[in-house]
Amino acid sequence: MFHLYLNPNDKKGRINPEIYGHFSEHLGRCIYDGIYVGEDSDIPNVRGIRSDVVEAFRKIKMPVLRWPGGCFADEYHWKDGIGEKSLRKKMVNTNWGGVTEDNSFGTHEFMDLCEQVGCEPYIAGNLGSGSVEELAQWVEYMTFDGVSPMADLRRKNGREKPWKLKYLGVGNENWGCGGNMCPQFYANQYKRYQSFCHDFGDNKLYKVACGPGSDDYEWTETLMKSLRPNHVQAISLHYYTFMDGWDKKGSALEFSDRDYYKTLKESIRIDEVITRHIEIMNRYDPEKKIDLLVDEWGNWFDVEEGTNPGFLYQQNTMRDAVTAALYLNIFNRHCDRVKMANIAQVVNVLQAVILTKDEKMILTPTYHVFDLFSDHQSGELVYSHLEEKKISEFELPMLSYSASEKDDVITVTIANLSLEEDAQIELAAAGISFNAADGQVIAGDAHAHNDFDAPDQVMIKELGTKLEDGKVMLTLPRCSVAKLTLKK
Ligand code: AHR
Repeated sequence: MFHLYLNPNDKKGRINPEIYGHFSEHLGRCIYDGIYVGEDSDIPNVRGIRSDVVEAFRKIKMPVLRWPGGCFADEYHWKDGIGEKSLRKKMVNTNWGGVTEDNSFGTHEFMDLCEQVGCEPYIAGNLGSGSVEELAQWVEYMTFDGVSPMADLRRKNGREKPWKLKYLGVGNENWGCGGNMCPQFYANQYKRYQSFCHDFGDNKLYKVACGPGSDDYEWTETLMKSLRPNHVQAISLHYYTFMDGWDKKGSALEFSDRDYYKTLKESIRIDEVITRHIEIMNRYDPEKKIDLLVDEWGNWFDVEEGTNPGFLYQQNTMRDAVTAALYLNIFNRHCDRVKMANIAQVVNVLQAVILTKDEKMILTPTYHVFDLFSDHQSGELVYSHLEEKKISEFELPMLSYSASEKDDVITVTIANLSLEEDAQIELAAAGISFNAADGQVIAGDAHAHNDFDAPDQVMIKELGTKLEDGKVMLTLPRCSVAKLTLKK
């Protein structure tokens, strides 16, 4: 029996809704097919944007969407993606399969998508191969209400009023695909670029510098040494789970028990990576004025056989669901510094929450985790603790969990990592007697997944709970992710 203890009097900070954010890139079938099908498509759409996908995004309360990349962002020239579609320049997508990008999805379409979903746009600007002028003009185009060349151009293209834009990334992975820069060179470039990205009217930019990849602590150290909170509101971190390293990612569908546990081990490592980056940030910024955004994360497996290797299409199983729960519980626990996280990527690429095939759409196990966890958005993180039990040769904790409180309701999310053992849990809270406890769960074999012929193999079901003397008793099945909604 596990004794999970909560102390709602011990609050650790607010869980920013943006921790449940997403990432979209002009990569494979993420934008085209996955989100944008064009106005003439038979697939139901609003101005070319798939209605089924928008509805699914709304259901999980998608708070923010990052675009247009990824590596693509540092080769993207935004002026190619505005104006009359037939006149838009075509380009080669060098990073992802060398396919032709026709720029039919550009700034107006992306902003339209965010408005339909009701989420914040997060623009990743081109520092690697663009210019200061180009990025400054993009900001002016999107956010300036007065008379200027860029605002006039936007009006000419059919948008009278500016959009609101908060999140602006200045480059992407500039230590790699975004220019192979050393940290000091990037920091200097960043300062130059950001100086010319202005706040117009009441639009206030929140500027994000390209942070480290995984455990590159030197990058963080250099950035924190060079940048001041008046230059930058956040630095980003990218962390992917490669089961056995970059060269041995393994299959998304065919894996052994050992592969399962190894994937979880590599995912849990993000806790240590975040902790160490935060330690560096604390030395330079003890007042926590600069946030950490994990703006790309997730499982990266081999592409599905028979698909374009440049398109990064992979299936999604209960292993991905458990991994997502691990990551999200870790982000919740770091909510005093981690203010946004964006799973890579939103549709048809890597650890996608949605997969599409022509007019069909399926929700992956990872989607259901975002659904279960959505009540944490804007909650106050509540202290939670249980005596750990270690499992597998990798000495993993058997349970991953976090708790938050909002409007007098406590939400607890728990994953049972074990493939062998169900977990009997008794949950108690300091000074509180619970009167109601609703449970929801996804569970199954680690390989369980949804497919176009069988879309409901993994779906959210009710999880039985019992109240005993104000405590909550439950059994969490092996390989599962659950949410408890507790009322006093
Ligand atoms: O998400 C796929 C790629 O991974 C992104 O384009 C890049 O930023 C990262 O290396």
